[in-house]
This record gives sequence, structure tokens and C-alpha cells, in this order.
Amino acid sequence: MPNIVILGAQWGDEGKGKVIDIFAPKADYIVRYQGGNNAGHTVVIGEDEFILHLIPSGILHKAKVCVIGNGVVIDPKAFLDEIDMLKRKGIEVAGRLYLSDEAHVIFPYHKKLDELKEAKKKKIGTTKKGIGPCYADKVARSGIRIADLLDEAVFKDKLRGNLDEKNVVFNRIYNIEGYSFDALYEEYSSYGKKIRKFVCNTVLLLNDAIKKKKSILFEGAQGTLLDVDHGTYPFVTSSNATAGGASIGTGVGPTRIDKVIGIAKAYTTRVGEGPFPTEFGEDLMGRIRKKGREFGATTGRPRRCGWFDNIVVKHSVMVNGIDEIVVTKLDVLDDLDSIKICTAYKFEGRVYRDFPSNIRVLEGCVPIYEELPGWKEDTTRVTSYKRLPKNAKNYLKRIQELLKTKIVLISVGSDRRQTFAK
Ligand code: IMP
Repeated sequence: MPNIVILGAQWGDEGKGKVIDIFAPKADYIVRYQGGNNAGHTVVIGEDEFILHLIPSGILHKAKVCVIGNGVVIDPKAFLDEIDMLKRKGIEVAGRLYLSDEAHVIFPYHKKLDELKEAKKKKIGTTKKGIGPCYADKVARSGIRIADLLDEAVFKDKLRGNLDEKNVVFNRIYNIEGYSFDALYEEYSSYGKKIRKFVCNTVLLLNDAIKKKKSILFEGAQGTLLDVDHGTYPFVTSSNATAGGASIGTGVGPTRIDKVIGIAKAYTTRVGEGPFPTEFGEDLMGRIRKKGREFGATTGRPRRCGWFDNIVVKHSVMVNGIDEIVVTKLDVLDDLDSIKICTAYKFEGRVYRDFPSNIRVLEGCVPIYEELPGWKEDTTRVTSYKRLPKNAKNYLKRIQELLKTKIVLISVGSDRRQTFAK
């Protein structure tokens, strides 16, 4: 298999876990390149449901090597808990799970800062896992990397320096107590000892694998519209969820990546605050949320739902260089009389056919829709494209036409078997 990036073409939760699980058997390495345990990748295997937050979904395939790249931020406790969860379910990770020594560590003060910022009126609606504050430290060059955590002298020095600054913020700005150096040092050193066996130079590991003609599957987290550069800033996550992030977040050069596959739901969802032009009204919101089980895999929050937005996915195709599209959750639209696709936005008399950068346009625009007849048939048992109802095929054909990108796979349920090629 070529080296492929699989990523979300909307605001996350497109069903990446399931699609990665389908592609994983053909890859040798499955790699996470950004984000942290804010992600929630769900894979259903028979009666078992696995929700992975940090470890690549490929871990569910016994022979595969999984790597957490340098671009990921690591909550060591969440990492160890996830390994325990997998062990309890009979999945052994020893010898096939690697963690980059350059990844940054999330500390309790990051989570606290995330919480405190979210308590303000103008919030982002984050997962409160400390992701944004950890990346902020990384960019400010004061972050603590896994390699630092494993070096006693460096860790002491960096942690002390960070606490000196952070505790002033907690005391003076938020009027709360700061963190004790001794307690944090002890707790995190003990995590360090436990994770040491997974840590290595993953940049070398992956580039050596490429030299040996092994194939790599890059597992994107969140989605394109949550990318810190290309998304609905500031209502985004703090990393590059787009295809470029795969190079930055693993140390594998862009010329070594052969293909980008974008996952798009047959409709749209987003969790948290921020503009969402095609968001449903109350009635449809309730129906689709229930049918699509649209509740966050990480926070349990109800997801906001809306019509398929071609402006959004077209933007994703462009900024990621998407070669092929996978459409998920088509079955969720089974009961609808008619289905809309947003093809443009109108704002203050101007029509936008491309994704606008100005958040005020996105917040205030009126979507322009095309309306297609629904199919009113159960598609969850359909096992081939040929057997899809005619109107479902028409819907997919229209999306493909608008995106000028091939739809290669369609998913009509959470089980591995409810997927077929177009
Ligand atoms: P953060 O990543 O926790 O900082 O949250 C920033 C924004 O990204 C919020 O709107 C979150 O709801 C959203 N977000 C973060 N991770 C995911 C995900 O895996 N799926 C969907 N939305 C996410």
C-alpha cells in the first residue's frame, strides 16, 4: 500500500476510526501526527466498541506497528490508561507501540488553564484536556517534551521554570492556588518511568521504515475545519489537522506521502462553539442527532448537526490535496423526504462560492442550497453501491460532481461490514 493520510474533511467526528480500521490491514505502520486525547476514534468490532483517544486505531490489528508522532501532545496518564484499557480487552501493545521523544507533555496546569479560559464568556467549547495551552507552550518554546521528562536534570529545571511563571498567573490573575513542584515532579517522573519503554526517535523509525518499503498510514485527528491555520479560527483546535500536519508531526517529508483520503459525513456535525452555516433547526437537529448517535466520543457533548456543506468540503479538498473521498453515515439520512446540499453562502448581498476567511461572514451568511429528493429506504443492509436506492446514488453523484473528487467508499453503519466501494 502507498503511504496514505486519512483525515477528516469537516469539523471532526467523520468516522475516521472506522475507515482507518478498514485501511489498517494493508499498512505496516499507523501513525498519529497531531492533537492529543481530545480525539475520540470509535471502532466497532462485532459486539465490542473501542474508543481510542491517543493511541492510533491501528492498534486493534495485532501485527501492526503504531506510532505517536512528535506533533502529538501527550497526557501521560491518559496514555497509560488507554494501554490498560486495551490490555483488559486482550490487546497487547508491547513491542509495537512507539511514542516520539519530541512529543510535548500535557501537565495539570495546561488542563486548568484550558478550564479557566473556557469559563469565560467568549469560549471555544474545547474538550478541556489542556490541548491548547500545551501547544501554546510548545510554540512559546517553554514546553516540556517526552525526552525532557525522561532526563531528571532537564525535567527539574524546565518544570521549575514553568511553574514559576504559571503559578503567578494562577495566583494573580485567577486568584487560585498554583501547583507544587514536588508533587508534580514526583507524579510525572513516575509516569516517565512507566512510558520509557515506548519512547524512541520516531522520525528515524518511520524514515527507516520507508527505506525498507514499508507502508505508513497517517491517522488524522479532529478535522480540516478545526485546523489552526485552515479552519474556522479561532474556533479550532491548536494543531494542524490538515495533510501538511502529517509531515510536520512525524518528520516524514511531503514527497514520501503518496495519497490523501478525506472522510466526509453525508451531512455535517460540529462540537463546541463557532460558525456552522448549514446547522439544522430544532426538529431536524433532534432527529438526526438521535439517529446518528451524535454525541462526542470524548466529552459526551451533543454534536450540532446540519446539511452537507460543499463549501466546507471543497475547501478541505483544496487545502489537503484530497485525492479520494469516503462518505460515511449515509444511512442516517434514510428517512428524509428531501436532502439539501449547500453550494454557496450569501452575506450582505455578496455570494461566496469559496470558503471565506472572515469569521463574521461565516457567522452571518445565509446558505444557498440545492435540494434533492430523499430515498426513504433502509440502507443499513446494503452491501454494494449497485444496490443503493436510486436517489441515494444521485445524492452521492451530485456530491462527487460538486467536489470534482472521486468518492471511493461509502459507509452505512458502524460495523466493519457496513462499508462498500463505489
Ligand atoms: P480542543 O482541541 O480541546 O482545544 O478543542 C477545540 C475545538 O475542537 C472544540 O470545538 C472541540 O469541540 C473541537 N474538537 C477537539 N477534538 C475534537 C474531535 O476529536 N472531534 C470533534 N471536535 C473536536
